[in-house]
Amino acid sequence: MPRIRASSPLQEPAHLDAWLADSRAWIEGRLEEQLADAHEWPPTLAAAVRHALFGGGKRLRPALVRLMCREHGGDDGQAAASAGAVEMIHTYSLVHDDLPCMDDDDLRRGRPTVHRQFDEATAVLAGDALLTRAFGVLAQAGADGARQAASLARAAGPAGLVGGQVLDLALAGSEARAEAVRAVHEGKTAALIAVSAELGAMAAGAENERCAAVRAFGVTLGLCFQAIDDVLDVTGDAATLGKTPGTDARHDRGTLVAALGLEGARGEAARLGQLASDQGRELGFAPPSLPMQLVARVLERDR
Ligand code: IPE
Ligand code: IPE
Ligand code: MG
Ligand code: MG
Ligand code: MG
Repeated sequence: MPRIRASSPLQEPAHLDAWLADSRAWIEGRLEEQLADAHEWPPTLAAAVRHALFGGGKRLRPALVRLMCREHGGDDGQAAASAGAVEMIHTYSLVHDDLPCMDDDDLRRGRPTVHRQFDEATAVLAGDALLTRAFGVLAQAGADGARQAASLARAAGPAGLVGGQVLDLALAGSEARAEAVRAVHEGKTAALIAVSAELGAMAAGAENERCAAVRAFGVTLGLCFQAIDDVLDVTGDAATLGKTPGTDARHDRGTLVAALGLEGARGEAARLGQLASDQGRELGFAPPSLPMQLVARVLERDR
């Protein structure tokens, strides 16, 4: 396999929206398969998991797994386990993030949050179910499953998503500095987006050095994504976002907007988007390839 695919079939100017819609349908089919035994679970738990998982969502992370797998010569079948696993972990993190003891939010993906639709205990346990199932799915991902599971565990765990959430809570109420906010963003958001990119390359059999470079691209993309999330919490509307804006200010959260102001945060997001484009170009994803279109979309998104 070439280390850098300078002219893969995906370098053609396929339309990003069509690709994302196709990826959403694809991952939803895979998630259905990965939860095919849900009828054997306690019915409330199954309903809560389905409410969380199939209630909309952009499916950015599984789309990134699929895209990076294809870019490295793999097929959708090779990406299915890790794509499902990252979406399950992401969804569990949203369910727990919305709990009253965290961000105390009522709306997610355009629907009541799981603890509002069901109750708090069910929301905690639905998150637990998604988290454990994610690793169960990866364990069946063939010979490379253990390596992929180790990467995902690192990204989702105390040095990644969970640690980032802890830092986010700790920063609330204090004067936010951009470096501290960056550490929060690296953990709570960029780690999972980065590992999504990495797992796609890994699933296709890319070598370690290439996987690390793809992960670095994903870190920058993830930082850009969360910078915009912080902006949208100020400027967005609930109907478009599918979640209630203003949560960060309500909790005096140490966001990029708190640290740099709205224009400063937008400027930092643009800088990160440019950096991700540069890294993407070095990886061989020349414009107007789908990876480069995806970088632009993350920066320009309104939801
Ligand atoms: C929301 O992620 C949580 C953050 C890390 C900012 P998304 O904006 O990807 O949420 P969904 O999956 O589309 O609902
Ligand atoms: C949460 O960041 C990231 C995770 C869920 C790990 P936010 O709290 O800003 O995400 P939203 O805005 O609720 O989606
Ligand atoms: Mg939060
Ligand atoms: Mg939140
Ligand atoms: Mg937010």
